[in-house]
Amino acid sequence: MQSISALLLAAAALRGISAFPQAEVASSISYGGCPPFHGNFTIHQYQLYPENAYFDTQSCLLYMGCLWNATVGIYNPYTAKIVDILEFPGTTRNPLFHIGGVGVDQQSGLVSIVVDASDAFDTGGQDISGTNYIMQWNPYTQELLYKINLTETTHGLYGGYQDVEQDPEGNVYVVGTYPSSILKVSKDGKTVTPWFVPTPPIVTTTAGLAGLAAQDYILLGNDCASGNLWRFDMCSSTGIPVTVPITPPYKIGSKGVCDGIRLPLKYSGTVLLVAEDLSGVSVFRSKDASWESAEYLGLVPWNDPSIFVTATVQIGNSLYMVLEPFGDAIVPGQTSGNRTDFPFFDITKQVEALVTA
Ligand SMILES: *[C@@H]1O[C@H](CO)[C@@H](O)[C@H](O)[C@H]1NC(C)=O
Ligand SMILES: *[C@@H]1O[C@H](CO)[C@@H](O)[C@H](O)[C@H]1NC(C)=O
Ligand SMILES: *[C@@H]1O[C@H](CO)[C@@H](O)[C@H](O)[C@H]1NC(C)=O
Ligand SMILES: *[C@@H]1O[C@H](CO)[C@@H](O)[C@H](O)[C@H]1NC(C)=O
Repeated sequence: MQSISALLLAAAALRGISAFPQAEVASSISYGGCPPFHGNFTIHQYQLYPENAYFDTQSCLLYMGCLWNATVGIYNPYTAKIVDILEFPGTTRNPLFHIGGVGVDQQSGLVSIVVDASDAFDTGGQDISGTNYIMQWNPYTQELLYKINLTETTHGLYGGYQDVEQDPEGNVYVVGTYPSSILKVSKDGKTVTPWFVPTPPIVTTTAGLAGLAAQDYILLGNDCASGNLWRFDMCSSTGIPVTVPITPPYKIGSKGVCDGIRLPLKYSGTVLLVAEDLSGVSVFRSKDASWESAEYLGLVPWNDPSIFVTATVQIGNSLYMVLEPFGDAIVPGQTSGNRTDFPFFDITKQVEALVTA
């Protein structure tokens, strides 16, 4: 049987995409077989505006949710080329929708994509009535496996969906922010369970969970309302949040906003990176990866108020800030600003310094 990565590389070759330079392949192998990669870089792509990103260690490609166009950008960091931009009829360049969260199931290679009702974020949770979707895309056959209207489950009572994770069985968890909720989608896409949902009275303007990160059956979420880190057990039929005690005490999102979280592969689930939009990336550790408690190690600071740190991503063996410039004027008749250059900052050394301090 051919391996998934061989299939994907073959598929890439068919589409005229070279995988990565042979010289890099021959050098030391890092995570999931992807060659090492380091240093700041900039993606030159009109209207990319990456809100979240996921590096697939099978294909060694970076998937990005392109917020305003509501597309998914696929980038090969080793050749510095955009490989593909996925468009979704009815969603792409429709002002009603954003695409933020993307996640690749590391077992199956299937890509989960969160489509959110843009009004929910634009109004700070005052209008969460719009339609949210979770989609699953098969990169090997280039087909959409499902597109589920999550509003059929939420009945428009809560919303603001923006990030996604999977458990080891391939079930998908989608997190909503206004207020906190997590919906579980069965592997076959046939059942959506309100796994962790708010109880009345529901206050939709309270920004709660912003991101998800998973390791085995442990699911972590950052609750921006309380500033706490929550742990869930994905073996459980309903999601029960347990607050992770943090030493020294630290509140996430003290500047009022917080965003995507990540357990980078290179630390085997022992280090959590929390993107805090305007202040930078806070770094936490659980030495045994149980996340029954956590140490707050410090902050990788960010000082440019015109650009938000919306997520982090490991590419090869390095760690990056995903940077989203908010506030660009929308090009008349389009849904996006006019930027072409999108920098990614290498924070590997700063994180390593905090972890080894
Ligand atoms: C990346 O760019 C930032 C901002 O310009 C700079 O502070 C940092 O030193 C750069 N990092 C590397 C690894 O070049
Ligand atoms: C966004 O859409 C414009 C067309 O309006 C297109 O030129 C551009 O490449 C798209 N960018 C992305 C990342 O979707
Ligand atoms: C999604 O489902 C909701 C609730 O059933 C419905 O009101 C809405 O029209 C649906 N969205 C679309 C685009 O069909
Ligand atoms: C991009 O938009 C800004 C603000 O509308 C404008 O000042 C600038 O000239 C535009 N740049 C290009 C290359 O069109």
